[in-house]
Amino acid sequence: VKVLVTGASGGIGRALADVFADSGADLVLAAHRNRAALDAFVAGRPWRARAVTVEVDVTRPATLVAPLAGVDVCIANAGIGPPEEVPLHEMSETRIRSVVEVNLVGALFTARAFLAELARAGARPAGASLVFIGSTAGRFGEAGHAEYAAAKAALTGLMLSLKNEIVRLDPRGRVNLVEPGWTRTSMVDLEVEAGAIERTLATMPLKRLAEPEDVARAVLWLASPDARHVTGQVLTVAGGMEGRVVPA
Ligand SMILES: NC(=O)c1ccc[n+]([C@@H]2O[C@H](COP(=O)([O-])OP(=O)(O)OC[C@H]3O[C@@H](n4cnc5c(N)ncnc54)[C@H](OP(=O)(O)O)[C@@H]3O)[C@@H](O)[C@H]2O)c1
Repeated sequence: VKVLVTGASGGIGRALADVFADSGADLVLAAHRNRAALDAFVAGRPWRARAVTVEVDVTRPATLVAPLAGVDVCIANAGIGPPEEVPLHEMSETRIRSVVEVNLVGALFTARAFLAELARAGARPAGASLVFIGSTAGRFGEAGHAEYAAAKAALTGLMLSLKNEIVRLDPRGRVNLVEPGWTRTSMVDLEVEAGAIERTLATMPLKRLAEPEDVARAVLWLASPDARHVTGQVLTVAGGMEGRVVPA
């Protein structure tokens, strides 16, 4: 099985690389700005001979075509999330456009390139699988991050549409969405976001941030043949989070 991970240079991306490699997969690992750091990470892994790294900007669809050749499992994981809480009425046009562009338009382009590859090369032996990485922000909302929450929530409609499109290209093809809660990666600025994390933990029975591996293991299962009759689903990996205490 050949697996492509976008955002592979990030925290969750690296954990995805590890768990899919441990399951025996061949990997196409896509970085954007941090290719050198991704190469250094891969060079230290026992599975390095089964991985290639590439540079992809998900907002530039031409960069996605070659990396997706022959891919059976596509993980649309690339994303950005500015840590500063900014109310929408004070948010810059640049921040709104860039966050929607990477998290939503980038996911659309990633999915489009994968489906085009299926149309070109045909059905996959175990059924093609596409997994989006959303966020609990898209499920519960997140004050101060409305642009991010909106982009992530839109992935649900995208996923629900594509689960009905993919089967025209691969009758066993599946599309699902994993929504992590707060996860310990460089995207989370523990100082800037301390208050928000504390409020969120108060709504969670499992009182800890997720580790990247917690998210990666859920994605691995959804993408695997063990989940072969599971499509069009949202799997939340957030310690039982019920949403946040409403801020004043
Ligand atoms: N950490 C959390 O608490 C959390 C919670 C919910 C959801 N998520 C979601 O999980 C996913 C992974 O996040 P993470 O926590 O692992 O963050 P991260 O460590 O900041 O990694 C983000 C990754 O996205 C890549 N990326 C950014 N812009 C890109 C672009 N235009 N084209 C291609 N790749 C791009 C980055 O590449 P370079 O570094 O190479 O530029 C990096 O590999 C994101 O979709 C995020 O929204 C994270």
